[in-house]
Amino acid sequence: MAKYVDDYLTIALPKGKLFSLSANLFERVGVTAEHLSEKSRKLIISNDECKVRFIITKTSDVPTYVEYGAADIGVIGKDVLVESGQDVYELLDLGFGKCRLMMAVPREERRSRLLDYAHTRVATKYPHIAEQFFAQQGMQMEYIKLNGSIELGPLVGLSESIVDIVETGTTLVENDLEEIAHIMDVSARLIVNRVSFKLKFDRIYRIVNDLKQVLEGGEVR
Ligand code: PRP
Repeated sequence: MAKYVDDYLTIALPKGKLFSLSANLFERVGVTAEHLSEKSRKLIISNDECKVRFIITKTSDVPTYVEYGAADIGVIGKDVLVESGQDVYELLDLGFGKCRLMMAVPREERRSRLLDYAHTRVATKYPHIAEQFFAQQGMQMEYIKLNGSIELGPLVGLSESIVDIVETGTTLVENDLEEIAHIMDVSARLIVNRVSFKLKFDRIYRIVNDLKQVLEGGEVR
């Protein structure tokens, strides 16, 4: 396989909900590549004329590619970024992918105070963020890491509560769960590798400025 050439800018895009919004946003500032599609089985899609290379990765892996410099920049939800603890620069709030990270419990068995859940089990995809939140409340908890369908946890007796993303609230309602604590607001962020930011400063700075202008012009859809 050809060795990467340094004058390419490599951009990591996450599969899933943020993919098309991210790809469209980059396209609006002239940073794009032919056949850039989430469904592509080709994982590196290059535009040799513009010296841009997109890599399409699993959402939770974007901060890893960027921290290690395998990608210069990337798009990722604030939730995944904070949970990863990865050492990257966060340059821009892209304003889409808005949701919130909440603690939720079964409506029927709701306890009166947050502290009443101390020492119980919480199911979550975000054990680090959850632990930080509960520590701030002076609460010790037992964390059960799940990778999806988190709302199922309390319904089948796996946990007393969940810490998860809420977007429209439909999943909570459908499963008789209720939000009891707000942990953080989430949206998509542009992240940059620390070394790339120095070595490719002019190029990255120009893209960030162009993106800012598009974002100031209205919400990205
Ligand atoms: C996310 C999240 C909730 C749901 C919230 O799950 O984990 O389950 O979306 O959205 P809502 O408030 O609009 O109902 P996702 O669809 O990413 O799938 P997952 O459960 O497999 O993680």
